[in-house]
Amino acid sequence: MLVHHLRPLDVGPARAASHEVDEALHGLGVPFEHDLDRAVVPIGDPAGKSALTRPLPNRVAEADTLHVSMDDDAAADHAAYSRAMEFRELLAKRRMVRAYEPEPIPQESLDRIVSTIRRAPSGGFSQGQRLVVIIDPETRERIAGIAGEEYYVGQGFAPWISGAAALIVVCACEEDYRERYRQPDKLDEDGSEIDWPVPYWHVDAGKAAMLVLLAAIDEGLGAGVFGLSAEGIAEVRGLLSIPEDVAIVEVITLGKAGADDPSDRLSSRGKRPRKSMDELVRWERWA
Ligand SMILES: Cc1cc2nc3c(=O)[nH]c(=O)nc-3n(C[C@H](O)[C@H](O)[C@H](O)COP(=O)(O)O)c2cc1C
Repeated sequence: MLVHHLRPLDVGPARAASHEVDEALHGLGVPFEHDLDRAVVPIGDPAGKSALTRPLPNRVAEADTLHVSMDDDAAADHAAYSRAMEFRELLAKRRMVRAYEPEPIPQESLDRIVSTIRRAPSGGFSQGQRLVVIIDPETRERIAGIAGEEYYVGQGFAPWISGAAALIVVCACEEDYRERYRQPDKLDEDGSEIDWPVPYWHVDAGKAAMLVLLAAIDEGLGAGVFGLSAEGIAEVRGLLSIPEDVAIVEVITLGKAGADDPSDRLSSRGKRPRKSMDELVRWERWA
């Protein structure tokens, strides 16, 4: 069981209104299932059993299918936003864990965690996210060396990377986006590929990574994230044979959470205040 150290969020007047909506969800008691391996019925399939079986007055559905993995072209059921409480509990446990017990992760857990990638949003449904999962102890040790784990150990952390039962290298395939946006429905008015205002392949890789972090908690595991230097990226690329046109964005560590007091004392989160809601969220306009 992870201990969470999130401070209570600043709840200003504007938030109070939405808090009332949250309260209305309290009595629903929608079960939090996580079998990620069932098929979703295709949209508009008359024979298919819709998950929106009984729309409730507050527009959330009694049943939902967010836990179901997609093994066809079906859309997710948009009636699925019925888990406010479960998400809140999950979010309260969201933190970086930098110390793990040496237990392996059951394969089914890992499968469920990585299958969340198929639910990750992506611009134009380009699906440019990629994950490379590493369980092999020797490879984990090598990556720990590349990331300079001894530095963290010297700082008082546990062997964060080599001690994690699994590592997930989060990658982004830019060409998937470019190829998608060269298709007729995505071309610019002049018939050319759009001038990308934001490198969404990196952005969307982050979204997939976030799903992995949350899915890990759902599996009762801890997770951490670290980035690599340019040299480190080159080394990991060589070690894992990741092609040059696939960007390595970050690495996630996974495992059964161990005693991780050093994170609370020594990590960035432990040493600086959490920014206020007023600083982070603006309403209607910036200023
Ligand atoms: C892209 C990325 C890179 C990170 N790299 C490191 C790292 O190298 N070392 C580290 O201790 N934490 C790293 N973190 C974790 C952050 O320090 C952490 O998310 C932040 O302090 C907030 O703490 P929390 O996630 O526990 O709430 C990284 C996080 C992200 C998203």
